[in-house]
Amino acid sequence: MLELSGLSEMRAWSRAQKARGGRIGFVPTMGYLHEGHLRLVDRAKARADRVVVSIFVNPLQFGQNEDFTTYPRDRARDRALAQERGVDCLFTPETKVMYPADPVTRVIPEAMAGILEGAIRPGHFAGVLTVVAKLFHVVEPDVAIFGRKDYQQATLIRRMVADLDVPVEIEVAPTTRELDGLALSSRNTYLTADERRSALALSRALRAVEQAWRGGEANPEHLQRRGMEILGVPGVTPEYLALVDESLQPVARATAKTIVVVAARVGPTRLIDNVVLGEGIAADPAVRA
Ligand code: PAJ
Repeated sequence: MLELSGLSEMRAWSRAQKARGGRIGFVPTMGYLHEGHLRLVDRAKARADRVVVSIFVNPLQFGQNEDFTTYPRDRARDRALAQERGVDCLFTPETKVMYPADPVTRVIPEAMAGILEGAIRPGHFAGVLTVVAKLFHVVEPDVAIFGRKDYQQATLIRRMVADLDVPVEIEVAPTTRELDGLALSSRNTYLTADERRSALALSRALRAVEQAWRGGEANPEHLQRRGMEILGVPGVTPEYLALVDESLQPVARATAKTIVVVAARVGPTRLIDNVVLGEGIAADPAVRA
């Protein structure tokens, strides 16, 4: 596995692969890789001839009081996991290489980025879209894979690519979970054993909403109340639980396409999750212990 950290080296490698007729699949990450990331690599391998994974903890998408400095980092472990999974090129730029100066230009999304996660993390999605646009310009992938776990992020990236005519195909892969339902996240490493148990409230709340919907309830307010009942356990501070459509707008009636998005704090750790009602959490891939 090749590891590159320069922008022009990365672009030259991609262009050389493409000149030989190879398609480039790309999985952008902030590292501390887990099985959720690695399943995106599997998808990228199925869709392309060469797979690039980037590891870059992007300061632009963290708020003042967020966890940029404490975000988990383990380059040696990431390198081993990526190599084992068949990644062709690991792209690991330094912060000063990605941002040699304070950016004067950013990708600023419209109102779709000001709700849900965006309401709680102002500026977060401008940071995400800016770095993803930069990474696309450097890696020049044919296809890029994102996780449904970050539903709003994936939706905004799809829209950015459409709005700005970026020549890349976006694929969104299902959420990988622990056997007990907890969605994998690099931030799960922050959880104590007690918090790890409390964190199950998120997937349980989603499941309860899904079950109530399957039982015939389609009123979003009733379904939301049901979810909040399950979420409101000791140790968990709910932030939002909402039923939205594919454009993240509230629905008047829950259907198979409705997405239930949830965010909560478990101790000091913020966690998010979601389910598409018609698919259900049971359809998500689970990790064998
Ligand atoms: P990060 O949190 O490292 O996630 C990288 C990719 O892995 C994202 O597309 C995310 O949705 C996906 N992912 C994380 N956990 C997952 C799970 N349990 N199942 C499936 N996919 C999962 O998201 C980011 O980094 C950053 O915002 C980034 C897009 C790299 C821009 O900085």
